[in-house]
Amino acid sequence: MHDRRTFLSLSAAAAASVPLAGCGTLDKDGYDRAAARIRAPLPETPGFASLVRFATLAPNGHNTQPWTFSDHGTGVGIHPDVSRRTPVVDPDDHHLFVSLGCAAENLMIAAGANGRPAAMAFDPVGEGRIAIDLGRGPPRADALFRAIPARQSTRSVYDGRAVSPAELNALASVAQIDGVRLVMFTDPRQRESVLDFVIRANTLQVGDPAFVKELRQWVRFNPEQAVTTGDGLYSGCTGHPAMPSWIGERAFGLAFTKDGENATLTKQIRSSAGIAVFTGDKEDKDHWVRVGRSFQRFALMATALGLRHALINQPVESPLVRAEFSRWLGIGAARPDLCVRFGHGPTMPMSMRRPVADVVRAA
Ligand SMILES: Cc1cc2nc3c(=O)[nH]c(=O)nc-3n(C[C@H](O)[C@H](O)[C@H](O)COP(=O)(O)O)c2cc1C
Repeated sequence: MHDRRTFLSLSAAAAASVPLAGCGTLDKDGYDRAAARIRAPLPETPGFASLVRFATLAPNGHNTQPWTFSDHGTGVGIHPDVSRRTPVVDPDDHHLFVSLGCAAENLMIAAGANGRPAAMAFDPVGEGRIAIDLGRGPPRADALFRAIPARQSTRSVYDGRAVSPAELNALASVAQIDGVRLVMFTDPRQRESVLDFVIRANTLQVGDPAFVKELRQWVRFNPEQAVTTGDGLYSGCTGHPAMPSWIGERAFGLAFTKDGENATLTKQIRSSAGIAVFTGDKEDKDHWVRVGRSFQRFALMATALGLRHALINQPVESPLVRAEFSRWLGIGAARPDLCVRFGHGPTMPMSMRRPVADVVRAA
């Protein structure tokens, strides 16, 4: 029976017998330098391109970066890039619009800290877009702004330490956005219940060949592949060693099993201090963007406090499990939008982004 351990030993064997053959010339240090360049500090008076770079550091489903940005002089438009949809895991573009909300919040925080106070509106016309107006004001120190280049989805096992009540309050209060509800669970029994939903949903997903196929298309198996594409899920971010992509693609099919993934998720969730669930008041693109903004503020505050977080979205992605998860949450017919674990733990490598030039479109 192949499992995640098989994946690791296959990759170790690959590395031992054909040292990085097929992995390209970029090593881990080269990867880390590329990731750091993307996250270089902003210039003193950042223009459109610099603000867009910081916006793209936002989390986004499968790291497809499903966005483009337009420069309107006194504002910025953020548009869905529907060519980067993930129709299996996200058939109604829910994650896509949550990701746009995360990017919008990053951009507004970066602009506001640098003398361009920002306001946004969601325009539902066509596919929908976000319109951000930039004003003029004094620059201001902002812990959320400083956290933008340091934030990451940290998929490590955490150390089980509790998060203090003051920190929980800071997370809850910074995440307040009109139209979004946040609940946090820190009781181990509630955490076990959420784990149960995650395992059930994950079991369904891993058993769905279309889900696995879509996921594999976005996995990047070595530093060179990750840096060259500038997108996708770099296996190093989940603690897997580099391997040539042709081996990775075959090993992935064998090693990505429900038992292996469920065991990993169990360790990850049991090591977390708590779980946060974000729910929009309505099920539409406008509210998905709001959820993204709220989550982004939560994620940046967690980063500023030295806390880690990672999405465990399986129970909100699987429609079969989602309805029951809603009932357990006591939110009636509302749709839970995001499920996030948080706590203390080691960081992982940072993820890649595409160049700004690739995500800019005409106004
Ligand atoms: C709407 C949305 C859904 C996501 N779902 C998951 C998920 O289920 N599991 C997971 O490990 N990461 C999930 N992520 C995290 C992304 O994979 C991550 O943001 C992306 O790979 C970029 O990495 P970074 O956040 O470290 O910059 C999700 C992110 C967003 C915005």
